[in-house]
Amino acid sequence: MTRPENYQAYEGNADTLVALGETLFKDTSLSSNGLACASCHNEGAGYNATFSDEYPHPVAMAKNIFGMDQVYLDEMVQICMVQPMAAEPLPWDSQELAALTAYMSKVQADWVK
Ligand code: HEC
Repeated sequence: MTRPENYQAYEGNADTLVALGETLFKDTSLSSNGLACASCHNEGAGYNATFSDEYPHPVAMAKNIFGMDQVYLDEMVQICMVQPMAAEPLPWDSQELAALTAYMSKVQADWVK
């Protein structure tokens, strides 16, 4: 679930991406099991203390399931897509991945406060 070589994330207007990310966060159609990100992470729920660390950083789920010593935030989005959401990872250069990553970054900033 690591970033591909020569990774170029989708670039777009930051506010647009955050708004789209918030919508996707609640979208059960992203998963194959009826869950949305918000099913586990509503109102700042479901994160461990590592979420307050600057990315990249170690995350237990990434280590235990994917053998990754540390993750970037977009990699963490992909890990939750594949593992708890039981879906395919999003295309790395997609607007969806950039949007969820932008939104999660905002959630993280609020969570750390
Ligand atoms: C079935 C529950 C579940 C769903 C659905 C889920 N997650 Fe998670 N998520 C977790 C768990 C459990 C952790 C804690 C992992 C750990 O600390 O080892 C986590 C942790 C995270 C973290 C923080 C990792 C860190 O400590 O830095 C992010 C970011 C995240 N999820 C994003 C998402 C996104 C985006 C989605 C939707 C695509 C999603 N999650 C869907 C269970 C879920």
